[in-house]
Amino acid sequence: MKVLITRKIPQSIVKLFEDSQLEIHMWEHEDEPMPHELLLKESRQADAIFTNVSDRIDRELIQHAERLKVISTMAVGFNNIDIAEATRRGIPVGHTPDVLTEAVADLTFSLLLSSARRVVEGMNYIKAGQWKSWGPMLLTGQKVQGATLGIIGMGRIGEGVARRALGFDMNLLYFNRNRKVHAEQRLGAKYKDLDSLLKQSDFIVMLAPSTPETYKMIGAREFSLMKSNAVFINTSRGANVDEQALYSALKDGKIWAAGLDVFEKEPISPDHPLLQLDNVIALPHIGSANVETRMKMAEIAAVHILDGLLGKRLTHCVNP
Ligand code: DGY
Repeated sequence: MKVLITRKIPQSIVKLFEDSQLEIHMWEHEDEPMPHELLLKESRQADAIFTNVSDRIDRELIQHAERLKVISTMAVGFNNIDIAEATRRGIPVGHTPDVLTEAVADLTFSLLLSSARRVVEGMNYIKAGQWKSWGPMLLTGQKVQGATLGIIGMGRIGEGVARRALGFDMNLLYFNRNRKVHAEQRLGAKYKDLDSLLKQSDFIVMLAPSTPETYKMIGAREFSLMKSNAVFINTSRGANVDEQALYSALKDGKIWAAGLDVFEKEPISPDHPLLQLDNVIALPHIGSANVETRMKMAEIAAVHILDGLLGKRLTHCVNP
């Protein structure tokens, strides 16, 4: 049986497939996605696809992949995969929740702190030879301790961010499609409707999954409700935010700063207007990128492939 691996992955993971006598077709580049045309072509011969957030596993691909028995993504998010079509064809889709919760919460909180305290601006300032002396108000930022944090999307990662915020005595607000009793009782998070959360928060963290309902859910109207000292963080998916509106809000000083790990189009172009602003910290979608977490994600994704090929139920199956 053939396994299509759409990105170069560590040898120890490849070995799991080799030990099971599977034929491997691996795209040998670590930092470049497989071109979509090639992905379409290779999928037609594949019994299993080991994929990631940057491939488009769409209806056309699934319809033409006649031998396909399992799709496994090395990610928690699966908005790039047509789950309805996979389900219609009886193809299980596996993903990797839980193992990346703490890693993404860490990166979210890093963006929060570094945006508030202008960490990247400070480094650029030194590198540009602008540092002449200590200054009373030089690169002053926003206070984090005791501030109000609004979390949009209170899932596992949201709770991870909330736990970190408690160490900074932050007041916790959240918005979610349903109430989260655990977050309310154990973490003291207060449920708010979206507008109230946007009006009351000093820090706003977007962690909702990308769905038709969350598409551009934060746009011009939502930014206009935020405080002028608000710091907006997005470590979920770029499609949840209207980037043009975010750019205007940052440029016109309607909000203070943004920390972004995800973008509408990835990779974002270096010429993108958002990257020309000093009050933006941008990262290349590395939310879950610590070595241990990524290895665990790859292992789980590999086991999903092996189980799927044996017709076993996947441990983390996203099909309804
Ligand atoms: C995910 O797993 O969905 C993340 O965005 C990848 O780091």
